[in-house]
Amino acid sequence: MVKNQIENLLRKFKNLKIAVIGDLILDKYIFGKVERISPEAPVPIFEIEREEFRAGGAANVALNLKSLEVGEILLLGRVGKDSEGEILKEILRQRKIEFYLIESEKLPTTRKTRVVAKSQQLLRIDRESKEPLKEKETENLFTVLKEFDPDAVIVSDYAKGVITKYLGDLLRKKIEVPTFVDPRPQNYLSYRGLFCMTPNLKEFSEIAKYFSLQGSYIETAPILREKMKLDTLVVTLSEKGLALVREDIKHFPATAREVYDVTGAGDTVIASLTASYIASKDWIISCKFANLCAGIAVSKLGTSQVHPEEILQTLDSNL
Ligand SMILES: Nc1ncnc2c1ncn2[C@@H]1O[C@H](COP(=O)(O)OP(=O)(O)OP(=O)(O)O)[C@@H](O)[C@H]1O
Ligand SMILES: [Mg+2]
Repeated sequence: MVKNQIENLLRKFKNLKIAVIGDLILDKYIFGKVERISPEAPVPIFEIEREEFRAGGAANVALNLKSLEVGEILLLGRVGKDSEGEILKEILRQRKIEFYLIESEKLPTTRKTRVVAKSQQLLRIDRESKEPLKEKETENLFTVLKEFDPDAVIVSDYAKGVITKYLGDLLRKKIEVPTFVDPRPQNYLSYRGLFCMTPNLKEFSEIAKYFSLQGSYIETAPILREKMKLDTLVVTLSEKGLALVREDIKHFPATAREVYDVTGAGDTVIASLTASYIASKDWIISCKFANLCAGIAVSKLGTSQVHPEEILQTLDSNL
């Protein structure tokens, strides 16, 4: 990519309006050390040194749009009426991201706690609710989405209940702007007829299985695209980059030089791909841009976002 193509995209991002709907997750990290074994049972004793919270799932997609300096962002989803929900909302307020969230009385906010000693994950403790959103609640979110009048909608599905077949129907029938989906295989029926889907290779293979498609993604991806009536399919291939699937397939090799942490790379892809496609209406430019952003994200620790200066710097050092 050349520098002025990127500068052009970044400039246009400021006038975009993008909505994200999906499952919010609170990622909690507990850092500490293990120095002795418990006298009570043959288990290590973990001593807490510090705790950290990050916004994950759909909230991380919104944060990625924000760091790309997309002009207006609205995040829609569900949290519980609990301290985790409050922490998520506080992170969003601090980052000046607008949100409209259903607050459930009985379901908890999805939380993933990682216990980490010496950069080594010892344990992950999940607390989550997977109950599907009620039709009334879906309509409620959808009304707010329509009023926002976005240029594009991102569906960030972590299979925790916000994305349902009913929501898919509303998006297909009642929204004119393109919808970009980061999918979970078991919900594939909800995405039929939407604009673009960005599975990773494993998710792609699982969805292909539901259609009894056999063979490599190179053979099956164009067929899956037709069967699901998608305009475009972008399959992310981890260290191999990504593949753009329309009538044929075009491959874009990965751009990362050093890889520290691949968590959240998928969130960076959907955010940067959506913004760049809406700004350029050019799939080649958009796939190159998304690959570049994801390459920067994986070279950082933790789920991370990518800033315009970093993108331009990376480009400079690649020339
Ligand atoms: N090891 C890697 N080296 C270089 N680039 C990578 C690597 N892993 C991921 N990427 C970049 O990130 C993009 C998305 O990665 P991947 O296909 O692993 O998505 P994902 O499984 O949805 O990620 P996650 O669910 O962890 O957010 C890739 O298309 C590529 O651009
Ligand atoms: Mg993913």
